[in-house]
Amino acid sequence: MAPEPGLTEVALDRLRERRSAKWTEYGSGVLPSWVAEMDFPLAPPVKRALAEAVERDDTGYANPAASGLAGALAGFLERRQGWTVDPDQIVTCNDVVAGLTDLLALLLEPGERVVLTPPVYHPFFTLVPEAGCGIWEVPLADGRALDLDGIAAAFAAGARAMVLCNPHNPTGGVASRDELAELAGLAAEHDAWILADEIHAPLTLAGAEHVPFLTVSDAAAERGFALVSASKAFNLAGLGCAQIVTAADGTREAVAELPFSATHCGHLGAIAAEAAYRDGDEWLDAVLAVLDGNRALLAGLLAESLPEARHVPPRAGYLAWIDLSDYGLGADPAAPILERGRVAFSSGPMFGSGGEGHVRLNAGTSPELLAEAVRRMVAAIDA
Ligand SMILES: Cc1ncc(COP(=O)(O)O)c(C=O)c1O
Repeated sequence: MAPEPGLTEVALDRLRERRSAKWTEYGSGVLPSWVAEMDFPLAPPVKRALAEAVERDDTGYANPAASGLAGALAGFLERRQGWTVDPDQIVTCNDVVAGLTDLLALLLEPGERVVLTPPVYHPFFTLVPEAGCGIWEVPLADGRALDLDGIAAAFAAGARAMVLCNPHNPTGGVASRDELAELAGLAAEHDAWILADEIHAPLTLAGAEHVPFLTVSDAAAERGFALVSASKAFNLAGLGCAQIVTAADGTREAVAELPFSATHCGHLGAIAAEAAYRDGDEWLDAVLAVLDGNRALLAGLLAESLPEARHVPPRAGYLAWIDLSDYGLGADPAAPILERGRVAFSSGPMFGSGGEGHVRLNAGTSPELLAEAVRRMVAAIDA
């Protein structure tokens, strides 16, 4: 599908007017390619819904239960992922990180351990202790796949939960149905919980399939909670609205025990998410086409100008995980690249073990700005 007109016409001076973290953390000489925000204009249905809310002066508290949000999400999951969800099994939370934190605090006793699979989305390393729990690291096998033997050993030794990042940030990998079914079996065998962070799932790219964890078996439905959001796919992170999905009576009853503050979300976030889920398919398809093109562009540019860089193109999302170890830039190549090349990537070591020597690049932008980010990286490495 051809990109929607205007989707990739993202002028740098317009982007620099944004007040979000991506565009305000560094000075105007730096090209930001770090935090997971996209540069594309908002989906028109989302923009309209937000503009109408502002026009109504409708900025009070959210009432998601009285809105169409759960029904819109159920429709979206059915259409996009073939996942049939009962809207009564959907509860809002402010964001995925808060939802994970509150669920862990609810489900586990203080000090109990939670499996994380580094290199992985770095806030997991702080949210687990914030929930009063300890971390049990089971690094990805070969830096990419779930180490199911390692996870089994962790559960057997007493770990009580795992945060599953699928699709995976930063590798962009997607777990297979078989891997997920085996994981669910392990969770059932050891009475462990799986908190499946599926925030990147709507951004699964051509050639890959996202399998929702809760669908793989009865064990997965009984031991799992899915955390989803429109915030990555529709660039709504600043609006504060994510959703917890369950698929069994026990897990739904557990979610009902969450404190009121845990299920509170932003009113504009709920309005935007509902519009995105209900009417955002066309825009999302256009974004996926751009991201697919950017994925190929990046692979080509790296092969041509940084042949020693190791990079497996993402199967979902717009983040690219690049191993620059062979260029002798130390454990954190993002630092010298920022200094010498004036382009800001996320620092590999932030994602935990296995992140040394890596940078995470954000390809959620126009092909022109992506090429400029690579040009600056190459200039820094050649300097
Ligand atoms: C895997 C993953 N989970 C959660 C988040 C953050 O989600 P939220 O803003 O809803 O907390 C991100 C953001 O990039 C992410 O990549």
